[in-house]
Amino acid sequence: MRPASASNIACFTDSRWLAGTYTANPSSTVAMVGAGGMPLSLLFMQYFSNARILGLDKCEESLNIGGQYIDYLMTKHPQNCRRDAIDLVCADGATFNYSECDIIILSIHISNKVEIMERILETAPRARQVIVIERQVRGLRQYFYRNHGFDPSGLPVHRIGTLCSSVLDSTAYRLESRRRAQGASDAFD
Ligand SMILES: C[S@@+](CC[C@H](N)C(=O)[O-])C[C@H]1O[C@@H](n2cnc3c(N)ncnc32)[C@H](O)[C@@H]1O
Repeated sequence: MRPASASNIACFTDSRWLAGTYTANPSSTVAMVGAGGMPLSLLFMQYFSNARILGLDKCEESLNIGGQYIDYLMTKHPQNCRRDAIDLVCADGATFNYSECDIIILSIHISNKVEIMERILETAPRARQVIVIERQVRGLRQYFYRNHGFDPSGLPVHRIGTLCSSVLDSTAYRLESRRRAQGASDAFD
């Protein structure tokens, strides 16, 4: 049986799960900003959630190599994932339209996370729950990937928690509803 919580998506590497109210399922859309040339995460996400997966990358070369990587693994293990549920899109996360997304993952090594968060807040649906998961690297991986963070204070997001594996810290945020966010900004007027 496939486990199906967003915490699997956040931290598939250590297979620890948050209590699962944040559920991805076949009708969910999960976008990963910064799919990269070796997008194993996309395959794990599809496997664990059965959701529709969008892998975004602004670098066409990375995206093409990533597509070949997925196709190669899928020919070896066709039973593990639905290839037709994984789409690779050449786009910058700072200009993409997130209106179809339920869960958005900001990969390691993304430097413009603030602009991406602003774009998510502008375009993501607010009538349903949307979760953003920010990844940071841990341990030895920091020698190869620089950590880029963002300051969530002042943004209409609620921090849910962080899961850690030996290589990743994944912090999940829930977007506040537009009405609540509007109320908060009115309070400062
Ligand atoms: C280190 S790689 C893949 C990381 C990996 N998916 C992870 O989190 O474990 C990061 C990729 O993000 C892409 N990238 C960086 N900034 C981006 C942006 N603003 N929008 C889309 N892709 C971006 C780069 O082109 C690169 O291929």
